[in-house]
Amino acid sequence: MPDLAQHIDQNRQRYLDELIEYLKVPSISSSSAHKQEVRRAGEQLAAHMLRVGLSRSQMFPTPLHPIVYGEWLGAPGKPTVLIYGHYDVQPVDPLELWKSPPFEPEIRDGELYARGSVDDKGQIYVHLKAIEAHLKVHGKLPLNVKFIAEGEEEIGSEHLEPFMQEQAQLLTADFVVVSDTPMYGRGIPSICYGLRGLAYSQIDFEGPTVDLHSGSLGGIVANPVNEMSRLIAALKDADGVVQVPGFYDDVRALTERERKMFADLPQNDEGWRKTTGSPRLHGEKGYTTLERLWARPTLDVNGIWGGFSGEGSKTIIPSRCGCKVSMRLVPDQSSAKALDLLEKFIKKLCPPTVKMTFTRMHGGEPWLADISHPCFDAAVRALERAFGARAVYIREGGSIPFLRAITESTGKPCLLLGFGLPDENSHAPNEKLNLENYQKGILAAAYLYEELAR
Ligand code: BES
Ligand code: MN
Ligand code: MN
Repeated sequence: MPDLAQHIDQNRQRYLDELIEYLKVPSISSSSAHKQEVRRAGEQLAAHMLRVGLSRSQMFPTPLHPIVYGEWLGAPGKPTVLIYGHYDVQPVDPLELWKSPPFEPEIRDGELYARGSVDDKGQIYVHLKAIEAHLKVHGKLPLNVKFIAEGEEEIGSEHLEPFMQEQAQLLTADFVVVSDTPMYGRGIPSICYGLRGLAYSQIDFEGPTVDLHSGSLGGIVANPVNEMSRLIAALKDADGVVQVPGFYDDVRALTERERKMFADLPQNDEGWRKTTGSPRLHGEKGYTTLERLWARPTLDVNGIWGGFSGEGSKTIIPSRCGCKVSMRLVPDQSSAKALDLLEKFIKKLCPPTVKMTFTRMHGGEPWLADISHPCFDAAVRALERAFGARAVYIREGGSIPFLRAITESTGKPCLLLGFGLPDENSHAPNEKLNLENYQKGILAAAYLYEELAR
């Protein structure tokens, strides 16, 4: 009878083949044209949960994409872990920048290239394969497992909270485990204890009813693109400090202890620069790169449209334009308040010569864990056993709306054990997953269940 590590090692190829099959499903949650494919990814996941040995799985419909739930509760007296992941993926554009098609997974140089490979299908499979390994080797799991995967994470998890309220009983557990974050670096297993929140908005501007001849009618009306640009320019100063009044009021200052924790990690500004490809790094003065990334809020224009941008020239005053503006938030900011402040500021600045519409889109709240709970020590032990290296504690800049929701509704600790890497192009062309991390992640997850059961 092989032990867990041997079993996981021996099944390497099959784990890879199964993930590759799953990555072929284009479950892009933001695209209405892909609604059936998102559903298919949910169905395949529910089926796979049974195949790895969970005793039940179920699809819960929501007004948009289904939530998939599975469980194995055969360890009475042992604790219960709730594992969360998301099976939806980001859009793939610009398609021409992919070296291999996003939904035709390809291995190059020990990396598996496909949309969803690291974010988050690969990391869902890490847990499914770890569960499977326990059940195959021992015939049982060391603790009870509940597994929930949503199909709307990449679009703001709108229907997750109502589901969690309705199904509060179903989701009770002693701890929550999420694998949907990067490790600090290659060979450095990491436990993430903080994430930023997000507040997203769209701002539309209307000027003349139709595009105007910029000569025959120019000079007597405001140009919405010019006016929008002035508003956008007023949002931040040259150092990136957000100018919206009150924006920083609720920002919790970093403690000296945390600043030191960040500073004790291997610093690599040139690495961040290379990862971004930017000519140089930029951000608020007085903060290190990690502090800016993990503990300071941001405001960014995600996109902008309006007027003429085709070949050659066209002399018009555009009729309308718009932009998408998002803010990353840190404790103790709230997404509702950040949007209030932004809307108020924009409305005050917007001249009466154009019509402005501010639309609130989704939000997610920042999250910060108390790492004194003993389950964090269990995670450190599991990661060390699998990776042969001491785990580091990190925060991250991205957002997972589920975390604040589950923390607030259950008060249970959440462990974020991510097996991605900072340069894995999530949300970008050529998203990839390092195969070594996939394999070690499976082992680490399998050990984690053992350690948590102690
Ligand atoms: N896996 C990411 C979250 C993440 C990214 C955490 C990087 C830590 C580091 C997740 O899939 C994601 O992309 N979330 C969205 C959430 C949003 C749509 C509410 C995000 O952060 O943009
Ligand atoms: Mn994700
Ligand atoms: Mn994502």
